[in-house]
Amino acid sequence: MRKFAHLGVGLTLIFVVTLTYAASKNEVSGKHKENSLECADCHGVNEPAAAAEPEACIQCHGDMLDAEAVIFVDKKGKQTEHYVHDSHEAPIACTECHAAHKPTRLYCNKCHDFTNKVP
Ligand code: HEC
Ligand code: HEC
Ligand code: HEC
Ligand code: HEC
Repeated sequence: MRKFAHLGVGLTLIFVVTLTYAASKNEVSGKHKENSLECADCHGVNEPAAAAEPEACIQCHGDMLDAEAVIFVDKKGKQTEHYVHDSHEAPIACTECHAAHKPTRLYCNKCHDFTNKVP
């Protein structure tokens, strides 16, 4: 029996360590941290296991289709004014460009070579 008790403690420890690691890896950052967002604000649950849906972003930010135009600069330095949220490819899921716990990326660069950063 004692052997099994130790196994139980060991497994619990691994479980707790894994949870702690997952939480620290998926912190809330930047403006969302400043505004005290919690995991559930995007994920719907306090202990998420999977990615958040873009619908969560839209609940707070709207669809962004009326956002201001952005000056796009390509690698050659050519400038074009364009609506990134209402482009010829719209609508594109928010999380194709924005992210919460990993680097952001500009979806448009599948085809273009813009140098603009995504916040
Ligand atoms: C509970 C409401 C809420 C949800 C849900 C939410 N946000 Fe935000 N977001 C905010 C607030 C508040 C700010 C800060 C606005 C400001 O300072 O002008 C912000 C800021 C931002 C910014 C600007 C960051 C910067 O550094 O300027 C981006 C981009 C953004 N959110 C994208 C997202 C995306 C993508 C999602 C979904 C994955 C999301 N947000 C979900 C409330 C929310
Ligand atoms: C194709 C890539 C792309 C997609 C898709 C996208 N965004 Fe953005 N978003 C950007 C870029 C680039 C900026 C920075 C614009 C700038 O420089 O003013 C930005 C800026 C923002 C900001 C900050 C605006 C501000 O005034 O500071 C918010 C909030 C935001 N996006 C929310 C969203 C939400 C919500 C969605 C989904 C409905 C979405 N975005 C979809 C690329 C994208
Ligand atoms: C602003 C919205 C937002 C908040 C707040 C947020 N998340 Fe996320 N989360 C996302 C998005 C979007 C993804 C998809 C991957 C990415 O963008 O980093 C994700 C992905 C994840 C994943 C899946 C990671 C993977 O490898 O697939 C976990 C787990 C997670 N978040 C946990 C958390 C925890 C824990 C918190 C609170 C401390 C939290 N998230 C807060 C938006 C959010
Ligand atoms: C699937 C490929 C593809 C994607 C993704 C894409 N584009 Fe385009 N885009 C094109 C093609 C093809 C043209 C027309 C040919 C040209 O002028 O380069 C074009 C033209 C444009 C133009 C006018 C031409 C110029 O460069 O002056 C702008 C501005 C533009 N795209 C912006 C965007 C933005 C912003 C995004 C992301 C939201 C985006 N595109 C995503 C393929 C794409």
